[in-house]
Amino acid sequence: MRTDNSRKFDHWIRNDFKQLNTELELAYQEAGCRDTIVGVGEKTKQTLLDEGNLHIRALLHEGNTDEGFDNGFDLLGNVGFFMAACRRHDLTEPSRERRSPLTDASALAMQLGASLGVIPRFASAHLETHNRALNGNYKSFTNLPDEHLFLEYNTRGVFAFIRASEALLHSLPLGISHPVTHDLLLAAQADLKQVIANNRALFDTLDVDRFFYAVRPYYKPHRVGLHEYRGANAGDFAGINVIDLLLGLCRADDPYYSQLLVDKFLFMRPDDQLILRDCMRRRSLLDAFLMALDDPEATRAAWFQRNAKAFLDVCALHGETAIQHHELLIARFIEHPAHRDGLDQQSDLTASGPRLDVMLRGLKKLCDLRSAANVDGLSTRFADLQRLREAVDHA
Ligand code: HEM
Repeated sequence: MRTDNSRKFDHWIRNDFKQLNTELELAYQEAGCRDTIVGVGEKTKQTLLDEGNLHIRALLHEGNTDEGFDNGFDLLGNVGFFMAACRRHDLTEPSRERRSPLTDASALAMQLGASLGVIPRFASAHLETHNRALNGNYKSFTNLPDEHLFLEYNTRGVFAFIRASEALLHSLPLGISHPVTHDLLLAAQADLKQVIANNRALFDTLDVDRFFYAVRPYYKPHRVGLHEYRGANAGDFAGINVIDLLLGLCRADDPYYSQLLVDKFLFMRPDDQLILRDCMRRRSLLDAFLMALDDPEATRAAWFQRNAKAFLDVCALHGETAIQHHELLIARFIEHPAHRDGLDQQSDLTASGPRLDVMLRGLKKLCDLRSAANVDGLSTRFADLQRLREAVDHA
């Protein structure tokens, strides 16, 4: 059961907090603010800070009330919303601090995060897959349509990836020659096609400047206690990596990819962490199909031709989602406005904190792995997929 204080805080996050952020965004817009918001809406910023701190102080004073995982995780999300909004409105700024000035919020977030086994800040699950709506209203920073559009499309995309990952997971116990594995591969294809359609719709409808200047800033890195934590991104769920690993496009023993997994584990809910951990030790479908190539008889079998073809189509679609994310979404909504407004060198432009060119290089590598591109100096599955394709084409 939730405590009274926890309920009141949730009510504040869903109402007054949203209203205050919305007022501030509209004030920034009216004042023509872009990247700098100093001196605008100072009274409103102070109200947000004071009201949030009052709620948090009451919760901290109440102590550990053991409300169960779901309520604890939800409360962590609410504290995280507050801390991220303080960062957005420049009430905190990690490079000018050695520890977060939000001492009570940090203490509560760290207590919750450490006891739940997750990072002590809001994660994308709080905004997307585990964001409960009351009377049709889910939690968000503002009431503005751009933020809602972004969150709803992200949530749809994440669930479509999760469904594709579940289809692939179900194929593991069946094996690559099972007739029903074919159905599962077709299901994964349909889900990835939905990701592609969803990304396209987001690309066509989201306003570049409203996203860049009024949504993205809530995802900046900030301190909790002493340490700085990167912001959440739509990739903070296991499904996307489950697809990478089970298809075999990315490998858990690749130093670049395993670093990425290590860095993201605590941004996922513990149930999600378990799924990913389990996947890291499985043989990929690509490796299983490649093993079948050792037996020329098997490759001529109807099951091989049918299932290998369906598998190759899943890989192609997964690659397409990655290219689309990189070349459409990131290019249009981050790279171009940052470049246009001379902000490329800023360190807090992205959720993860590094300079834009550094982040883009990392994401390009991931995109090349997922699309099995033929790139010098990067070990992708290009040649392996080519071998498999030949076995299918020349049967
Ligand atoms: C990560 C931008 C929408 C899935 C990222 C990152 C950026 C970004 C910049 C890297 C985070 C960082 O290091 O700062 C965008 C933009 C979007 C968008 C501008 C639209 C306006 C989506 C959607 C999905 C998605 C709809 C689908 C679920 C991912 C994934 C990652 C990620 C999976 C983690 C990296 C990876 O594994 O690929 N995104 N994104 N994004 N985003 Fe998006």
